[in-house]
Amino acid sequence: MSAQREDPLKPAWSRDLLDSPFPPELDAPYFDNTLDAWVLSRYEDILAVFWASELSPASFNSKNIPDSFSKDESFKMRTETLEALTSGRMRVWKEHLTKETSALMEGLNWQEPVDLLSQYAQPLCLSLAAMVTEISDYDAVRMCNRAAQVSAASAEPYNQTLRSEAKAASAELRSCFHAEPEALRESGFVALSQTMLHILANAWFALMQHPQQWLLLYRQPELIEQAIEELLRYAGLARILHRTATADVDINGCIIRRGERIFLRIIAANRDPERFFHPNEVDITRRGAGHLTLGAGLHSCVGASLVRMAAATLTSPLIKRFARVTLDQPATWQGGSGFCSPISLWVRVG
Ligand code: HEM
Repeated sequence: MSAQREDPLKPAWSRDLLDSPFPPELDAPYFDNTLDAWVLSRYEDILAVFWASELSPASFNSKNIPDSFSKDESFKMRTETLEALTSGRMRVWKEHLTKETSALMEGLNWQEPVDLLSQYAQPLCLSLAAMVTEISDYDAVRMCNRAAQVSAASAEPYNQTLRSEAKAASAELRSCFHAEPEALRESGFVALSQTMLHILANAWFALMQHPQQWLLLYRQPELIEQAIEELLRYAGLARILHRTATADVDINGCIIRRGERIFLRIIAANRDPERFFHPNEVDITRRGAGHLTLGAGLHSCVGASLVRMAAATLTSPLIKRFARVTLDQPATWQGGSGFCSPISLWVRVG
């Protein structure tokens, strides 16, 4: 087995984790010699990065400077994906998902503890992933473990073993998907079948930790869309996003030189008190928060409308039916410096 490179983020920023009893710490931009990268955590700094055309997305371990060809490709991919996610298609997917969600809710025995992830969210996310990427349910089930391997490597990007497994899994996944545009092939499948599950796990964990907010949503289910935005902000998912400077750039007075890399601490920025009133509280009545969980600016998530639709469609039946949902056993966590989420959510309802 190849030697594991130590995860340099493991001891750092542990307060960025959702189960931390302490809020994240925010700093002015600084250059970290161990990471060989700038580290930014304040909301305004990260937002400036998201809108800077001199800063391109990069993978965590790449020191290459992205070229203008990859910028054109990225622009084309964005346009094609956004055009494919028409309101008509979104409506059809939502209708299907709503029907499947109702059937599943009816079929579960809620008198006993239920795992909201494996018994409820997972089959629904998988079915949505199959619909959107236009593969059969049979192929979706067959490819699910492969997608989980890709996702596990994103959660722990410094784990060499997971990375090798993900490389093989990606190759197998690639041969199964042919939808247009490209973002609705294997990467879309992984996002909907896996990332969606992790983000829901965090959101529902956070809501259960705030039973008054769950009750409020039970009484006012029309707040669901606002509540989803607040849960995305508070619970988040990606811990770090990366950028590389293709030219010198000034980010709120901090000069970043061509070729330098930047680590963006998204979870910390989502709790920045300069931006959010009482940032470490869940408040589902919060408006216009503008969280960064799905990115922002030039490279914001093109699947954001799908994420919001799926999150609301899967959460609504739970909050409409149950006034109180509590964990039946403490959550155990998976992941690493890419993202963390509960492995299961065994709950009792009331
Ligand atoms: C399920 C939960 C999802 C989460 C948490 C998520 C999160 C994100 C974030 C944070 C970014 C910004 C990356 C950056 O700035 O470096 C992003 C970009 C992106 N997302 Fe998502 N995403 C999700 C689902 C999806 C889905 C379903 C699709 C497919 C339709 C998708 C396609 C993309 C693409 C193609 C980009 C790159 C955009 C660009 O570089 O211009 N995402 N996503």
